[in-house]
Amino acid sequence: MRIPEAPTLTDGVATLRHWRPEDAPAVQAACSDPLVQRFIPVPIPYTIEHANEFLETRRRGWALDDAEKAFAIEDAASGQVIGAISRHRPEGHRVSFGYWLAPWGRGRGAMTHALRLITDWTLETAGFLRLEVSTDIDNDASGAVALRAGFEHEGTRRAWSLDREGNPRDSVFYVRIRTPHD
Ligand SMILES: CC(C)(COP(=O)(O)OP(=O)(O)OC[C@H]1O[C@@H](n2cnc3c(N)ncnc32)[C@H](O)[C@@H]1OP(=O)(O)O)[C@@H](O)C(=O)NCCC(=O)NCCS
Repeated sequence: MRIPEAPTLTDGVATLRHWRPEDAPAVQAACSDPLVQRFIPVPIPYTIEHANEFLETRRRGWALDDAEKAFAIEDAASGQVIGAISRHRPEGHRVSFGYWLAPWGRGRGAMTHALRLITDWTLETAGFLRLEVSTDIDNDASGAVALRAGFEHEGTRRAWSLDREGNPRDSVFYVRIRTPHD
């Protein structure tokens, strides 16, 4: 079966594009970073096989309407892969987003641009009413991205997730509710 490709979305700072098999070394390097491993439940150690599996699963998501829609994030100026952003599998009118940046892509606003791009694309091309980002209670950097990208702080859900040892973790939710102008 021929799998459709992700659209390319860009604002001149960040470019969201379809994942390619040759992105595997960048994915492996990024997912071996301690900050990604702290806040994303990726395997440790993260091998090139894990990266290949990640890319294949993300690629296949574009074949099904209600599956995850995953994009590679490129620095628009250099074309270098710096991160990942996905719209997760929806639940009715609700949909959430997840993301990470490789260490070499952080600290210059790329994720704020990427989250705005995927949010605008979602509002333009799909009918979801509630868009959300949830972060670990200690993940202020991720919360700041959501706020800068136009999401509002909603609140904290207690014991929403579990850490690698099975201990409960509180999550902070940020939401963007579709308005009549969207
Ligand atoms: C969450 C994560 C993506 C945030 O990365 P980030 O680089 O802070 O986010 P941005 O790309 O939006 O960049 C923001 C930074 O660039 C700066 N910046 C520079 N130009 C900017 C611009 N035009 N717009 C916004 N920010 C800009 C901001 O001041 C900010 O720097 P600061 O952190 O020193 O305040 C990153 O910490 C990460 O990958 N963490 C591990 C995985 C993770 O936690 N994922 C989220 C799970 S919920």
